[in-house]
Amino acid sequence: MTGKKRVLSGIQPSGNVHLGNYFAMIKKMVENQKNHQLFCFIVNLHALTTVNDSKALAAYTRDVAVSLLALGIDPEKSYFWVQSDVPEVTELAWILSNVTPLGLMERCHSYKDKVAKGIKPNTGLFIYPILMTADILLFKSDLVPVGKDQKQHLEVARDIAIKFNSVYGEVFTVPEAIIDKSVATVPGVDGQKMSKSYGNTIEVFMEKDALKKKVMGIVTDSLPVEAKKEPDKCNLFNIYKLFLSEKEEKDLRKRYETGGLKYGEVKKELFEVIWDYFAEARVKREALVKDKEYTNRILKQGAEKAREVALGTLKKVKQITGLSI
Ligand code: ADP
Ligand code: TRP
Repeated sequence: MTGKKRVLSGIQPSGNVHLGNYFAMIKKMVENQKNHQLFCFIVNLHALTTVNDSKALAAYTRDVAVSLLALGIDPEKSYFWVQSDVPEVTELAWILSNVTPLGLMERCHSYKDKVAKGIKPNTGLFIYPILMTADILLFKSDLVPVGKDQKQHLEVARDIAIKFNSVYGEVFTVPEAIIDKSVATVPGVDGQKMSKSYGNTIEVFMEKDALKKKVMGIVTDSLPVEAKKEPDKCNLFNIYKLFLSEKEEKDLRKRYETGGLKYGEVKKELFEVIWDYFAEARVKREALVKDKEYTNRILKQGAEKAREVALGTLKKVKQITGLSI
């Protein structure tokens, strides 16, 4: 170990936390909490690009905060806050937008994908990657655990950091993405990428009956029971394996490949596995939901702590750009 690194990542409060968020981002963040300096936050300014129902945004923000705490983010060991409580990030985003070539935004798939999916293309959605870059650079992050869908945004953040440093001098750390291959794109119940905006998620904290219904509804092919099946092409297998050890995955693979496997049975098993996996977190979450004041206090303290770091970076940026005279 060569000293502590800064590990940062954010999650949008645009829905409830799902398995894709958990395996690609939250689990990695919790693992990194032990040995690194963790910056974990709820990106409500990003969610504004798609959520304009004020009650929903506030409720999701609270829900995501409570879920992250229940899943193991430790506010004592990390910086944990809501994005808009550190407003310096929007100031930095504006400054960075002036070294960002328009073409860099125009090439971003995420914007094009969202528009193709019917989301109204507002300007916020177009410049979303600049705000994300500001999130990352403001805290001089070394490592950013994300799913594969964020790979290009990380490349944008690197490009902007390099460009800024070359124009004004070395201020920013050039960040690196952590994208774990085995969880890079968690499929939804329909086989597309699991996403809050596609309505195909398995949420981590669903009610028991709703979870069962969701898992039983995972789309599978219609091969007869006796047929040999291809695990890697099966959504059910690809979701199930997230919870399995290497040996367990091998065994399940064998059951697919030898024939005689009933999807209905595997779905029931998976439901039990998911339910048990999050049992402890579920209990923690129930307690947190009841104590609103605790979460409020934690988020307030987290924002104050994060703001100190943010102000330090911004001071330097203002000096080097000539904004401070
Ligand atoms: P969503 O796409 O559901 O709106 P967010 O944008 O809030 O989720 O993403 C939070 C984190 O979870 C990001 O790092 C993102 O890459 C990751 N993530 C979201 N969905 C998936 C998925 N299906 N597979 C892997 N990672 C995912
Ligand atoms: N764009 C990310 C997503 O949709 C969320 C995000 C915002 C983020 N700012 C960030 C992720 C900074 C990592 C670092 O998932």
